[in-house]
Amino acid sequence: MSTASAASTAPGDAEVHTLVIDTDPGADDVIALLFALASPERLKVQALTTVAGNVPLSKTSRNARLACEWAGRPEIPVYAGAQRPLQRTPIYAANIHGREGITGVEVHEPATPLAEGHAVDYLVGMLRAAPEKSVTLAMLGPQTNLALALAQAPDIVRGLRELVLMAGAHFNGGNITPVAEFNVFADPHAAEAVLKSGVPITMLPLDVTHKILTSDARIARLRQLGNEAGRIVADILDAYAPQEMKHYDMPGGPVHDATVTAYLLQPSLFRGRRINVEIDSREGMGFGQTVADWHGSLKRSANVNWIVDGDAQGFFDLLTERIARLP
Ligand code: BDR
Ligand code: CA
Repeated sequence: MSTASAASTAPGDAEVHTLVIDTDPGADDVIALLFALASPERLKVQALTTVAGNVPLSKTSRNARLACEWAGRPEIPVYAGAQRPLQRTPIYAANIHGREGITGVEVHEPATPLAEGHAVDYLVGMLRAAPEKSVTLAMLGPQTNLALALAQAPDIVRGLRELVLMAGAHFNGGNITPVAEFNVFADPHAAEAVLKSGVPITMLPLDVTHKILTSDARIARLRQLGNEAGRIVADILDAYAPQEMKHYDMPGGPVHDATVTAYLLQPSLFRGRRINVEIDSREGMGFGQTVADWHGSLKRSANVNWIVDGDAQGFFDLLTERIARLP
């Protein structure tokens, strides 16, 4: 893909988002969070909501608060959400993210406690009180929290401007089964509910995240920033990338969830198409697959902006520039 410079003047590259981030940290989630929290002039982060996913909820909730602490933003409220998927048996990905959910770094109990109340209640109350089409929701894990909120209060779609999800796989194939990507496989019924919501959706699937890969030089630049956040991101990637490289025989490791932050900050780095996407939630080999109708064979209406390509160097330039701003 042609390179869009970090100083792009494309209209979306200047937009300001009132943002909530729903997340299951997760090594790449932590990087996505640091990246977002380093960009307060563009991303007005109201809160983080956590969900069970890569590791159980108590750990994802601790790790989300750690990301706020590492970003020097402990005032951002973190609401704990769903402990388990809507219907399926819970699955985790500690084999990839480590027992604590973050590879390569020491974890501790953060000084700031969780915000009071359940993430789903927070989402319902906040979206009901928000002006029409004003809130962007970034979703970095299984989509259980929003599915529960939509079931409880379907009127909340009014407050939503856009959903930007790291989810799904089509051209690339899956990462948890041959056809399914982890976030969708971990709760396909929730993904179905979210796709049916009618809210504008952008999905960053493995098709793009497996094209935006680390290299020794890219990680070294982050470490050479000399700040604590740069060291943390480099340590996470040094531990996280090799296992992905080995499994997929790729020259570098993906930073999946951080592509969501990059998309919000600089959509001109990415290329996609509005298509129809449906979730296979039936038991069987296709369980959790995102059936992405790239060529419009089914003639169903488009419900997703499906991203397939991105400017890898532009991504790492932007990530490095933003991480440099942190403590
Ligand atoms: C997604 O699954 C999780 O393991 C990562 O955090 C990312 O959100 C990639 O498939
Ligand atoms: Ca995640």
